[in-house]
Amino acid sequence: MAKVVIFSGAGLSAESGLKTFRDSGGLWEEYDVNVVCNHDSLEKNEALTLEFYDKRRRELEFKAPNFVHRKIFEIKEEHGSSVAIITQNVDNLFEKAGIDNEDVIHLHGFMPEVRCRSCEGVFDIAYKKIEEFKGGICPNCSSKLRPNIVFFGESAPMYEKLSQELSDCEFLVVIGTSGEVISVNGMAKAAKYSILNNLEESESIDDTLFSKVLYRKATAAIDEIAEKIDEYLK
Ligand code: APR
Repeated sequence: MAKVVIFSGAGLSAESGLKTFRDSGGLWEEYDVNVVCNHDSLEKNEALTLEFYDKRRRELEFKAPNFVHRKIFEIKEEHGSSVAIITQNVDNLFEKAGIDNEDVIHLHGFMPEVRCRSCEGVFDIAYKKIEEFKGGICPNCSSKLRPNIVFFGESAPMYEKLSQELSDCEFLVVIGTSGEVISVNGMAKAAKYSILNNLEESESIDDTLFSKVLYRKATAAIDEIAEKIDEYLK
């Protein structure tokens, strides 16, 4: 298990031009989360829900990893299994920066993938609309496909991996999350050393629990974070 856990959220990809969820002008101001990201969204608002994810998948094609994704790639290259990369983000910017998909724990799913609603088969469709891949139908069992995203109220199988990695995490780095969906307070309490990097304070995060707090853009904080990790793993 890794000693260092880098736990991230939408703020890490913000400087690549992807909207966060809760900052002003964020995605949930534009779309109603209950309409397009709820456990019953596919049942009640199928067309709108698929369209929302089709658009978000498409926009990924034109987004590039930023300095933070690239720096985390370097950290991972240097320290290998001592570092775990865990993200709430469903984009593929870590992968575009060169990190193997198996080395990134995507807690809330992965946008380039679709999943069968029946047999659970997973298919990488890159930036296509769901309908452009086999007509939106599972090639294995002919049931309908859906985005491979965890909607609110659905179970998140990767949370088990998160608990495993946190069980012996000594050094925690939190970048770009409001902590509203997954609380980071307990994680910080349990770690020997912890760094928080967000743009600003969040109601859901008790920053006094962190050893170091960096309220600034992630691209302006990552060098300092990388140095601390290097020192720790030396
Ligand atoms: N650098 C660092 N932090 C930033 C930056 C930046 N450039 N821009 C924004 N932030 C910070 C904000 O200060 C905020 O704390 O990123 C955080 C974004 O918070 P949210 O929008 O709530 O995103 P996140 O915590 O990832 O959301 C969690 O909610 O809707 C669900 O499934 C969705 O995975 C997502 C989950």
